[in-house]
Amino acid sequence: MSFYENELKALKKSGRHRHREVWSDSLKDFSSNDYLGLAHNKALHEQTVQKLSCMPYHSTKASMLVSGYHQIHKNFEEALCRVNGFEAGVVLGSGFNANIALIESLVRKGDTLFMDELYHASGVLASQIGNMDVIFFKHNDMQELETLVQNSQAKRKIIAVEGIYSMDGDLCEREVFEIADKYNALLVVDEAHSSGVVGKHLMGVFDFYNIPIKSNYIKMGTLGKAYGSFGAFILASEHIVEYLLNRAKPLIYATSLSLYDTLLAHKALEFMIANTALLKEQIQLRQKIVEDILGIKMAGLIAPVIIGSNTKVLEIQKTLLELGYSVGAIRQPTVKHAIIRLIARLGEEPDSLENLCKELEKLR
Ligand SMILES: Cc1ncc(COP(=O)(O)O)c(C=O)c1O
Repeated sequence: MSFYENELKALKKSGRHRHREVWSDSLKDFSSNDYLGLAHNKALHEQTVQKLSCMPYHSTKASMLVSGYHQIHKNFEEALCRVNGFEAGVVLGSGFNANIALIESLVRKGDTLFMDELYHASGVLASQIGNMDVIFFKHNDMQELETLVQNSQAKRKIIAVEGIYSMDGDLCEREVFEIADKYNALLVVDEAHSSGVVGKHLMGVFDFYNIPIKSNYIKMGTLGKAYGSFGAFILASEHIVEYLLNRAKPLIYATSLSLYDTLLAHKALEFMIANTALLKEQIQLRQKIVEDILGIKMAGLIAPVIIGSNTKVLEIQKTLLELGYSVGAIRQPTVKHAIIRLIARLGEEPDSLENLCKELEKLR
């Protein structure tokens, strides 16, 4: 048996084996990250296709640094800057690439990266590239972070946190912004699960905590989640974006983000701006249902239901699938204790969420 086959056997034995599946469209979707249900919004899709159909070409054809930068990218970047209060922005293909781009290019020799221990796998992977000095601090432990940053002799200090953590569903602490300012550190906030979900204008944690934007802040957001599209954006000060365009390999050596995805995300942003009050009402309604039935207070729309065992979590997922609901079954090593990850998407009716929560309450 080859090394790889042995690895697979061991994964199966420990309940950690993963496989992909085409899930039925008839399932009620409480597993995807399409928080606002925009991936199902046909009007946004049709407006996008209509606009692209009138253009001489519909694919980006090259890297942004060659000839793949399009007015559609520029318009969206400018719109994102306006609503989020940043000087400059850049879009790229996937949040995974955005984390690689940011971490790999910003953390240089003599610098130290301070990363929350629950930061996304893409950031962790990026921190292992080269010989970077990285310190993982206890999740959301601002006292530990401050002590580490205060005692650091690094040339530059870079702190990386998520706006809402992808598995635990909790917010980063407001204090992280103060620590970054106090110690002159660069702060990277991955808003994959918070942009479009929290804040007065639904723009994410900067908006939620009402943080005035400063030149040491970098905001990353993904387009494959609340925006119902695909890709990612990075917002920062002018010189940081210019630096990334000159140093970040996923920006330089990759074909730029597709025009369809960019334009669709721009339409989604406009939709969020035009419907903020209604969307917030819908989000709050779902947060109440989950709290009332499961006793989980969601910061955004992620409910992590702790189950503990890898096998039990799969059994629960299977039972819920038979009842017509899809939920995430997240196991070790992605999380410490296996969870059912329920996404209270706006794309499903509140009644369905209520019924799912009641079933889950019986099974947990
Ligand atoms: C916190 C976080 N950052 C980054 C990513 C990667 O984003 P994308 O799916 O756009 O590659 C994810 C995806 O799940 C995520 O949860």
